[in-house]
Amino acid sequence: MDFTLTDEQKDLRELAHDFAVKEIRPVAWEYDRESTWPEEIVHKAWEVGLMNTHIPEEYGGPGLDYLSGCLIEEEMGWGCSGIGTSLMCNGLALAPVVLGGSEEVRRHYLGMLTEEPRLASFCLTEPDAGSDVSGMRTTAVRKGSGYVINGTKTFITNGSHADWYTVYAKTDTDAGHKGISAFVVPREAGVTVDKKEDKLGQRASDTAMISFNDVEIPAENLLGEENKGFKLAMMTLDRTRPGVAAMAVGIGRAAMEFAADYSKERVQFGVPIAMHQAIQFMIADMATKVEAARLLVWQSGALLDQDKRNTLACSHAKRFAADSAMEIATDAVQVYGGYGFIKDYPVEKLMRDAKIMQLYEGTSQIQRLVIAREVLMPRRVAEPATA
Ligand code: CAA
Repeated sequence: MDFTLTDEQKDLRELAHDFAVKEIRPVAWEYDRESTWPEEIVHKAWEVGLMNTHIPEEYGGPGLDYLSGCLIEEEMGWGCSGIGTSLMCNGLALAPVVLGGSEEVRRHYLGMLTEEPRLASFCLTEPDAGSDVSGMRTTAVRKGSGYVINGTKTFITNGSHADWYTVYAKTDTDAGHKGISAFVVPREAGVTVDKKEDKLGQRASDTAMISFNDVEIPAENLLGEENKGFKLAMMTLDRTRPGVAAMAVGIGRAAMEFAADYSKERVQFGVPIAMHQAIQFMIADMATKVEAARLLVWQSGALLDQDKRNTLACSHAKRFAADSAMEIATDAVQVYGGYGFIKDYPVEKLMRDAKIMQLYEGTSQIQRLVIAREVLMPRRVAEPATA
C-alpha cells in the first residue's frame, strides 16, 4: 500500500490549506460566536473549486478521487469544521444522484451545483428516526405521473439555504428498510423550513427542520429503483464518512497545534509547561491519534478509489477520528488549564465542534455496530463498492 500523494493531491491540499488560513480561520471564532452562516465563504470556495469535488467531469464537476476529497476535508476541519460542514454538505446530497439518478436528473441537478454556487441537502433523519433509519415516517405516495411527499426531516445541514433536497421516504409503509425510496425534491416544489437549530458547536453551519406537506414531484425524480432507497442511503454514507472523518482529523490536528504552542509559552513552576512530562505525554497522545486517524481515513478513501467496498474501513475511520477529535480537544482544554474554559482562547470552540463528529453521519455507537457486524460476518468486506 503506497500512500505517497501525487503532485496534484499535494497541490490540492495546499490550495485547501491556504483557503483555510486566508478565508476561514480569520472569521471562524466570530462566526461561531454570532452563529453566522458563511455565505461569502461558500461563494469563494465554489470559485476556487473546493466544492462539489466528486461530481464527475461529464456533469461539469472536477471528478476528484475520494482520497483527494479527504485531503480537502481535513484542511476545512482544521480551519473551522462548522464552515467546513457548510462547504462539504453538497457531497452528501449529490452522491445518491450520482449513484441512482437518471441521465436527465443528473444533468439537471448536478448541473445546478456546478453552474452556480448553489446548495443541496440530504434529508434522511427524522424527529423519531435517527440511527434507526427504517423507522422513518415520511411517505411518498404515487399520484398520476408523480409522487406526493409528506413528512418532517430534522438536523438537515444547509436546509434553510438549499435549492434541492435528496429525500428518503416510505413508498411501502409495511416493508421496513425494503419500503424506502429516494427522491430529488426541488425547493420550489413547496419545501417548508420550520426551524433553524441553535447548536452547541459548529455554530456557523445551518441545521434546520424541514417539512414536506403534499409536495408533488415528477416520477423521474425517483433515484434508483422504488423501495431500494435504504441501500442508496448506506452506499452514500460509505462515500461521505471518509470525508467527515477527515474533518474530525482536522479538528484534532488544530487542537493539538494550539495546545503544543500554548504549552511552550505558558510558564509554571519556573519552566514552560511543555517541559513537564504530564503535558508532553498529553501532546504525544494527541499526535499519535491524529496520525492513526489520518491513516484510517486515507485507507477508507483509497478503497473506494480502487472500487472496493469500504463499509468496515469507513466505520473504523469515522469512529476513531471522531472519538479522537473529542479526546484531543478535551485534552487541549486541559493543557490550557482554566484559560481553556474561557471563550477568549481558541480551544473551547474546538471541544464544542468536535462533539458533533461523534453524532452526525452515524454516531460512534452506530459505527461500532457496523464494525462488530462486519467483524462477526466478514462476507461484506470483499464486495465491490457498487454492491
Ligand atoms: N452498502 C450497501 N448495502 C448495505 C450497506 C452498505 N454500506 N449497509 C447495509 N446494507 C444493506 C444490507 O446488506 C441489507 O440488505 P438486504 O435487505 O438485501 O439484506 C440492508 O441494507 C439492511 O441492512 P441492515 O440489516 O444492516 O440494516 P439496519 O436497519 O440494521 O441498519 C445501520 C443498519 C448501520 C444501523 C444503519 O441504519 C445506519 O447506518 N444508521 C445510521 C444512519 C446515519 O448515519 N444517519 C446520519 C444521517 S446524515 C447526517 O448526519 C446529516 C447531515 O446533514 C450531516
